[in-house]
Amino acid sequence: MRCKKCQEKAVIGLPRHNAAFCKGCFNEYVHDQVARAIKAQRMFGQKDRILVAVSGGKDSLALWDILLKLGYQADALHVDLGIPGYSATSREKVERFADAVAASRQAKLIIHVVKQEEGAGIQELANLVNRPTCSTCGTIKRYQFNRAAVERSYDVMATGHNLDDEAARLLGNVLHWQVDYLEKQGPVLPASVEGFARKVKPLYRLAEREVAAYAVLNRIDYIVEECPMAKGSKMLLYKEVLNHLESESPGTKQAFYWGFLDRQTETRPTAGSMAEKDQASLHPCTVCGQPTTADVCTYCKMMARAQAASPR
Ligand code: AMP
Ligand code: FES
Ligand code: ZN
Repeated sequence: MRCKKCQEKAVIGLPRHNAAFCKGCFNEYVHDQVARAIKAQRMFGQKDRILVAVSGGKDSLALWDILLKLGYQADALHVDLGIPGYSATSREKVERFADAVAASRQAKLIIHVVKQEEGAGIQELANLVNRPTCSTCGTIKRYQFNRAAVERSYDVMATGHNLDDEAARLLGNVLHWQVDYLEKQGPVLPASVEGFARKVKPLYRLAEREVAAYAVLNRIDYIVEECPMAKGSKMLLYKEVLNHLESESPGTKQAFYWGFLDRQTETRPTAGSMAEKDQASLHPCTVCGQPTTADVCTYCKMMARAQAASPR
């Protein structure tokens, strides 16, 4: 197998593009896909300050690496969830990358420790509020991502969601006709109101296996294991189904998700009217001041319940 660009020995084949690349040309391809995503979706500019949410997995570490190499000012936020046997290793991978790569480019790492700030690890909090661990985790992460970005005046918050993540989420939303979620799904979530950070997903053009290959080829040391709480999740099932389709018919995932984005652009109401609709229903949480549609935001309600249920 020869590289499509330079005819050197290829290290990876990309059936969906009917191509194969050597290491150098593959890195160029990855950087180019991210640069295209940023430009096509008007995610941010060279002068913007970006906060990357970094979990210690391949996607978010690769994203941080790529943004720095493309010359962006990108700091990172890691949320240490306090999950035994998982969170300590995740944090270690993030800290090691920050010391080895990011520090030389003047990029900073912020760490939010759930056990310290919220008073208990994710599992304990989930038990206290009697909710599934993953949804408790999702609420805390979304809240802390937004808060860090807004309080520290970042222009945009970036996550490592890739093509497989987005296609799987789309499949789930379509299978259950979650129309509200479908309307909001996309690589850019605008900062519709004050107090909400703009959120972007610059890896949406790259498949999971491409991001994994990038991480391995560039010696990015990441946590390979999935979060133990994700076992048996619907998302993993949807990914498996899509991978099966992809192996029989390369390009299916891309056609599915990108096709959705094309149609969304055609039918989406103007950004102004969406922002106005959102703005009308949002106001500051009476406890913490972050935007919410209720009096008290989901996070503050959850923390109050946890506090009431915790042994004194
Ligand atoms: P996941 O939902 O685990 O697939 O994660 C999606 C994205 O959310 C990752 O690519 C990261 O950008 C971000 N993320 C997930 N977990 C964390 C964490 N503990 N700390 C910071 N960012 C995270
Ligand atoms: Fe949140 Fe697994 S990453 S529960
Ligand atoms: Zn609140």
